[in-house]
Amino acid sequence: MEYKLITEDRFDDVVAHLSTNFFADEPLNKAAGLCRRGEGHRELEQLCYETLKDNLSLMAVNENNDIAGVLLNGVVYPQDILQAHERIELSDDERFKKIFRLLNEHNLRANIFGNFNVARAFEVRMLSVDGRFRGQGIAKELVRRSETIARDFEFKLMKADATGIFSQKILKSNGFKVLSEFYYDKYTDEFGKPILLVEAPHIKLQLLYKLLE
Ligand code: ACO
Repeated sequence: MEYKLITEDRFDDVVAHLSTNFFADEPLNKAAGLCRRGEGHRELEQLCYETLKDNLSLMAVNENNDIAGVLLNGVVYPQDILQAHERIELSDDERFKKIFRLLNEHNLRANIFGNFNVARAFEVRMLSVDGRFRGQGIAKELVRRSETIARDFEFKLMKADATGIFSQKILKSNGFKVLSEFYYDKYTDEFGKPILLVEAPHIKLQLLYKLLE
């Protein structure tokens, strides 16, 4: 397996990989029924292309140059977290809003920029491995190599909203720590009904961080 920075000529292939894997499999997308496998999603695709343009993302490719896994990394500034809700509410997809409201509310409460005196953070945003290549350590290696990129670009802080137990484990094994966590069964509507029924073994969202010396 070869690990490479994602260049513009592969952006469309990376988004195709994500729509076949991440869009359907990520625990919150799955719980919301956001899209069927291989189906596009306007807002998610937009987020992918914006993130790719930060030029910090990595892919793992096999000997045929097929994409086995990707890690989309982006830069996040304090105002991105403070202003995210404006953008979320522009979406007309209720399922998308359920997911992104939860992530944004959790980020607002965790207040990462209030905890650490940095102007920007390197965000580990979308970690995805093709079903045919899982369980071979690809995700772990993508995270490990992303830290090198973060250091090369002089980031002092990495963060991730890890939505499932495996991404949480992978990040922790790479030295990330929990800043804040939130149990999915506490995300309820005005009648106390859970807004997202997230499948076991995924029970909580964790905001993880790593300070880079
Ligand atoms: N069952 C049991 N253990 C698992 C599983 C699983 N399904 N997936 C990963 N692990 C464990 C591995 O055993 C390994 O543990 P070890 O280091 O103790 O041996 C560790 O997690 C690392 O596993 P990798 O092989 O590096 O993970 P993989 O390449 O299979 O990719 C991933 C894991 C990215 C979570 C993949 O299952 C996937 O694409 N899922 C759908 C998308 C998703 O949920 N992404 C994360 C969302 S959060 C975010 O993107 C910031």
